[in-house]
This record gives sequence, structure tokens and C-alpha cells, in this order.
Amino acid sequence: MDKCNDLRAAWAREAAAYVAARLPEPPRTGMILGSGLGGIAERIESPTVIPYREIPHFACSTAPGHAGRLVAGRLGGRPVVCMQGRLHRYEGHEMADIIFPIRVMKLLGVQTLIVTNAAGGINTGFQVGDLMLIADHINLMGTNPLIGPNEEDFGPRFCDMSYAYPAALRKTAREAADRLGIPLQEGVYLAVTGPSFETPAEIRAFRTLGADAVGMSTVPEVIAASHCGIQVLAFSLITNMAAGVLDQKLTEEEVIEIGAQKGAQLQALILEILAHGEL
Ligand code: HPA
Repeated sequence: MDKCNDLRAAWAREAAAYVAARLPEPPRTGMILGSGLGGIAERIESPTVIPYREIPHFACSTAPGHAGRLVAGRLGGRPVVCMQGRLHRYEGHEMADIIFPIRVMKLLGVQTLIVTNAAGGINTGFQVGDLMLIADHINLMGTNPLIGPNEEDFGPRFCDMSYAYPAALRKTAREAADRLGIPLQEGVYLAVTGPSFETPAEIRAFRTLGADAVGMSTVPEVIAASHCGIQVLAFSLITNMAAGVLDQKLTEEEVIEIGAQKGAQLQALILEILAHGEL
């Protein structure tokens, strides 16, 4: 096991060296873009595009709406590296593979990670198309990406999650949203593995637990980022109301469609934060 872990750390260094050699400058902000939300990567200036399959030891994403490439360059005047398409547990990826890119970002020099996802609205005050700033999360994926020998090079065995979504970053986001006149909800994201959507009974239970939105991603990456000292700013786009909230079926098409419709607003918000904030 230890050997395997040492190997993974070496793989991360190898992947980071491969990517770094192709970039004109080290990225300071990392981005992971959710289902149907990859459009902002097209706005990156002087982009260097690297398909995941070309990066040593990188797993490839197969989920709909996920392009599967790293795009690096300048956005809002800041050096960024963006995962256009993420890896999900429901695709069969191991947690170690899902968090591998976070460690590569850390080695590249990333200090802040911006994450977006599509989520189902649990809070009945939400509407389809709302943006939610993630204030905290509940991990119901039934596992944790840090299980196994600790990789001391990256962080401590017992990683504090009290400030995973720092208040100062959230304030920056709220101020940017105010400047643009974009309404921004704030709440707790609950992660499940999927791929089946939840049952209405599960959603009622999650509401009792304090969740405002539910999705199938983000939490593994946030845990890995916290572990290695990367601060996180995360947004959910409420692409549908969660199961049982409305008397209708949930479909993947709806998730992609709302992403396409409302993704531009999220893009504008992220651009404003990058151009104005201290990320
Ligand atoms: N549940 C889980 N994941 C999701 C949902 C949902 O309702 N919508 C978008 N991603």
C-alpha cells in the first residue's frame, strides 16, 4: 500500500511536469467545470489545450457534457488551469483518480480552486436556474478520497474541514454577484455517488439533515483540495428540483439544458470574481 501511494505521488509529479512543460506560466487558480458548464474554458485567452488522455496517469471523463481536457491560459487577467470535464465516482473511477488532478494542480502552483456543478434543489425556496454558493457540504458518498496511507507530501492525516469554503472567498463571490445583479443563493451541498437520481424519501431525509442541494460530484475534489491547502470557491447551478419536490420525473436532458441556458450567468460571475478578486 505504501509503495502504491509513493507511486501515486510520483505519478502526480510526472503529470505536473508534463503539463508545466507546456504552459507559459504557472497557474494560480484551478477550475473544475460541471455538467454542461464547460463553456467558460472557451473564454480563456491564449489557451493551451491538453486532452486528459495525453497526460500521464490521468483518467478520462466519459460523462455527458464533459469535454475531457485541461485548458490553461489567462482569464480575467489571471493565470488559470481549467478541467473542462470532471471525473465522477459513478463512471467507475476510483477516488484516487478523481482527486489526482487536484494534486497535479497543487504541484503546478494552484492556490485557489473554483468548482461548479449541476445540482438538484432540495430547499423549496429555490427555483430551477438558481445559482447557489456552496457554504458547506455533507459527504454521503459512503467513502472518503483520503482513505489509505496518508500522502504526507500533500497534507496531514486528519484534515480539518472547518474552513473548506472560506468565508472571505464567499464574500468576494457575493460582492461580485451584487455588482452584476445576479441573484445568488447560499447553502449546503450534499454529495451522493449516483448514478441513479435520489428517491423522494431520500430527498426528504436530506432536507432534514440540512442539505439545500444534492449532486454527484465536487466533494471528493474539495476534500483533496483542503488536504493540500488549496482554498475552494464552489457553485451549484440548480438544474432541477430534487426528486419529489415537484410532481414530475427527473431527466439528464433537463440538467444539460438548464446548464446551457444558465451557464452564461455563472461564467459572467466567475469572470467578474477573477477580474476583481484577489484569487
Ligand atoms: N440529484 C443528483 N445530482 C444531480 C441532480 C439531482 O437532482 N441534478 C443535477 N445533478
